[in-house]
Amino acid sequence: MHHPGGFPTTRLRRTRRHAWLRAAVAETALAPSDLVWPLFVHAAAKPAAVPSMPGVERLSIDGVVRAAEEAARLGIPAVALFPVVDPELKTDDGRLATDPGNLACRAVRAIRQRLGDAVGIVCDVALDPYTTHGHDGLLGTGTILNDETVEVLCRQAVVLADAGCQVVAPSDMMDGRVGRIRWALDAAGHHEVCILSYAAKYASAFYGPFRDAVGSSATLATAAARGVPDKKTYQMDPANADEALREVALDVAEGADMVMVKPAGVSLDVIHRVKREFGLPTLAYQVSGEYAMIRAAAERGWLDGPRAARESVLVIKRAGADAILTYFAPEIARGLG
Ligand code: PBG
Repeated sequence: MHHPGGFPTTRLRRTRRHAWLRAAVAETALAPSDLVWPLFVHAAAKPAAVPSMPGVERLSIDGVVRAAEEAARLGIPAVALFPVVDPELKTDDGRLATDPGNLACRAVRAIRQRLGDAVGIVCDVALDPYTTHGHDGLLGTGTILNDETVEVLCRQAVVLADAGCQVVAPSDMMDGRVGRIRWALDAAGHHEVCILSYAAKYASAFYGPFRDAVGSSATLATAAARGVPDKKTYQMDPANADEALREVALDVAEGADMVMVKPAGVSLDVIHRVKREFGLPTLAYQVSGEYAMIRAAAERGWLDGPRAARESVLVIKRAGADAILTYFAPEIARGLG
């Protein structure tokens, strides 16, 4: 519609004129309950900085318990735990992954003991922190073994559930693992433990700082030098989106309660399609590299860090994510409080 003078009657700028009106018409709002906070736990008593993730530290078990308490205070519903395993404890078969006395299990027990059910704990199911080669599965000749790995992942999921973890999150990308893990959990009496499947996990360049944090950059590099194939042989090709839907369909059929898309910010189309197609709880992981880019630019004064952080997470929700794993979780939650 135009006035005789040629001006439009519809001016979308009107609803952008006042802060209160922008707030009133906002389609997406971020709440602390949308966030999951990933934490690194190590065996040392003192925290250790992760140089490629400014503001993120590897924490002791006590430190992780305190962080979980802070999460509860901030209204962040859950933390995701990632163990940093001493290099001398890593083995070719990553057998420590299934030991109920490992760092991840001890941290889970410590959090549950202090906080009960006040905060959820999500644990990765994958062998990479525990293997000398840094892969998520067992190494065969020239390949990462699928079915043999799945058997180990089942035992890993059960020891984590025994320790008190309420959500196990297979991030390994082996075929068929969700169904087997569901069966193993049920057989162990863990009917109520959820499976959050990393259904669409891409072989991404954006995991670099995480691998520095857990020490798998070095193990992977050594393995690559020995001719071990890389994670592209099991994680998805970033070129593919239809394939992500097939991954999700399979994991849902196998019993996944929730699915994850990862990395988040470079997969907004995939998040959108997964949510629209399946309508099931869809989480997205804003990974270490996405975090590091914003932090690094902010440190140089090239970006307004807190604004960029909030916007990067808000648009992941707008794309369709029900919750977002992000290293910015506490900072964003404090800003919303
Ligand atoms: C490994 C795992 C990775 C991440 C979470 N679990 C890295 C990988 O696949 O090598 C990455 C998370 C991040 O970059 O923040 N099972």
